[in-house]
Parts: sequence; C-alpha cells; structure tokens
Amino acid sequence: MTDVNRVWRLRKRPVGLIEDDVLSFEREPIPEPGEGQFLFRLNYLSLDPTNRIWMSDMDQYMPPVALDAPMRGVVCGTVTDSRHAGFAAGDMVSGIGVWADYQLGAPPLLNKLAPLEGIAAAQAFGLFAVVGPTAYFGLIEVGKPAAGETVVVSAAAGAVGSLVGQIAKIKGCRAVGSAGSDEKCRTLTELGFDAAINYHRDGLPLALKRACPKGIDVYFDNVGGEILDACLGQMNLNGRIPTCGLISQYNAAGDVPGPKNYPAIVMKRLRVQGFIVLDYAARYPEAIAALAQWLRQGKLTFRMDMRDGLENALSALRALFSGDHRGKLMIHVH
Ligand SMILES: NC(=O)c1ccc[n+]([C@@H]2O[C@H](COP(=O)([O-])OP(=O)(O)OC[C@H]3O[C@@H](n4cnc5c(N)ncnc54)[C@H](OP(=O)(O)O)[C@@H]3O)[C@@H](O)[C@H]2O)c1
Repeated sequence: MTDVNRVWRLRKRPVGLIEDDVLSFEREPIPEPGEGQFLFRLNYLSLDPTNRIWMSDMDQYMPPVALDAPMRGVVCGTVTDSRHAGFAAGDMVSGIGVWADYQLGAPPLLNKLAPLEGIAAAQAFGLFAVVGPTAYFGLIEVGKPAAGETVVVSAAAGAVGSLVGQIAKIKGCRAVGSAGSDEKCRTLTELGFDAAINYHRDGLPLALKRACPKGIDVYFDNVGGEILDACLGQMNLNGRIPTCGLISQYNAAGDVPGPKNYPAIVMKRLRVQGFIVLDYAARYPEAIAALAQWLRQGKLTFRMDMRDGLENALSALRALFSGDHRGKLMIHVH
C-alpha cells in the first residue's frame, strides 16, 4: 500500500463538452475508516453517461456532485481495512463510490460483490452493476415486448443498447438497432440484430421504415432528439417507449427542440415511461440470475472496453459522447 491517494475532484460545472478544467486530479492522504465503515482499494471504475449528469447542477434523480467534492462513480474494489462487522479485508465490494484509489464505504451505497460461477469479477461488475439491470428492467418491465413485435433501440452498439437488442431476440422479437458507424452496425448483425441503421449515414425515417416494415412496437430510447422523433412517427397502436436516457442532449449548452411527432402519443395511444434502474434495486437478483444464465448459455454476449489507469478516467469518459469505445466502458485501476 502506498500512502498517497489519488482523487479526482469536481472543480467546475461543465458547459457543453467536459473540458479539462472541470475536474482536477489530486494527491491526498488515504482516509481512515470510522466506526461502521470500511476502507477499500479501487479495482474497477465504471464510466457512465450519467457521470456527465451528476456534474451538472440540473434537476436530476440524485443530488449533483458538490463543487470541490470527489467525483462520484460506480465502483468495484477490495476491502483493505474494516471497522464494519459485516466486511473484512479481502472482500470485494461494489456500488456508488468516488473516483479515488482508496475510499471509505458502508452499506447501503456499497455492498459485497457476490461471486458468480464462471463469471470473472470485472465482467460481473460491468454487466450487473448498472447496464444489465437497466436493459433487463427497461425492456421487460417498461417496454413489455411480446414475441413477434418489433423493438428498436438507439445507441444499440453501446453497453445498454447491445443488451436490449439481444434480450429482445431472446424474447422472440424483431430487433433493430441504430448506431453511429458501419463498423458498429456490423457488430449489431453479429450480435443477432435483424437490422442495423447507421444514423450518421442512412436517412432516418426511410431507413427505419425499411428496417421495420411492420412499424415499431417498442422504441427503447437511449438517445432522444432526432431518432426519438423518427421512431415516434412510426410507432404502432399501443406502442411503448421506455425512456432510458437522452445522451444526445447531455452536452447541450442551450435549449433543445422538442419532438415534432409528439401528437403520435395521443393518436397511437403510446405509453412513454421514463425509468431509473435504481427503482428496481430490490429486484436486481432477478435480473442478475436471468442475465447470468443467458451468458452461460451463450445467448448473450457482453463486450467490455477496459482502459488502464485512474489518471485516464476523464479522457476515457469523453469516449461515451464521441462514440469512440466498444462495449461497456471501464477503467482498470488496481
Ligand atoms: N435510466 C437509467 O437508469 C440508465 C442507466 C444506465 C444508462 N442509462 C442511459 O442509457 C444510455 C446508454 O448508456 P450506456 O452506459 O450504455 O452508454 P453507451 O451506449 O455504451 O455509450 C454511449 C453511446 O451513445 C452514443 N451517442 C453519444 N452521443 C450521441 C449523440 N449526440 N447522438 C446519438 N448517439 C450518441 C454513442 O454511440 P454511437 O457511436 O452509436 O453514436 C456512444 O457510444 C445513456 O443515455 C444513459 O444515460 C440510463
């Protein structure tokens, strides 16, 4: 153990893209656990679009990170010292922590990472901490897909999107994905999607029409903006739109236009429902069991983009907004 702790602190609220001076990388003393706390060393840091939301002083589902506070993140680490009766040195923990080598934790924000046969810790953390349950509950509980229906998902080559399309196939649906390059579209086909649209190149309404000849029953929205509008215009009667995220707007510095096809919600009796995966926290074991089984059966592929070094966290985070990553983006720290 070194006696220096490296910590990323939020210094400024970003406006538009996350500039270098939004965070600073400090060297600080390692904290000592108080009664009921444990100290853990960071092994993996999950990088998520919501990190950008947490940096902003906007209305959101959690308080934003305070200025000068350590940057919040979804983390996985190993306990090195404990003053909590339920945790001992060597335990692996995961949950909501901060971007730092060493940090203090306690339930309910941090809990033991349960070992799963045949699934490595990095994969278990990457798949089960956020994106797997998001895809599972967002599609199955909010989207309610029925066999034979058409499911469209945006940011389909990303962590949540690639799982949504594969779960749609497992449920007997036609799966259509949109992604930002031909290479990503080829990946979608390899993952079993029935059709893939490169939204940078293919004209959206027409490409969607070709890919969804029977219309859209479920549009799993990761992006908002233009693709949401195009899908609204092609939804079938009683269609569902699980609103998972709006990544096309997270870096917007000003107002964003509303969807032109909003009237479709009335005319087609659509159900548009936002959700936050934390709403389903009590039911995570159900999602984990199903996802782990599909993984072991070879029905689900989970791709990770693992980068090295806590010092690279900020530059790596930007890849979520440029699309310059392949699969679940994470940092290997120790
Ligand atoms: N509701 C919840 O509880 C919950 C939980 C987790 C995630 N989410 C949301 O789910 C979505 C996906 O998250 P993820 O972790 O799986 O990330 P991801 O899809 O692995 O990465 C983000 C992807 O978004 C696409 N993108 C970025 N900027 C875009 C833009 N301006 N227009 C269109 N596409 C853009 C990029 O793909 P392309 O190269 O294809 O453009 C990028 O690869 C995000 O909206 C996130 O906020 C919600």
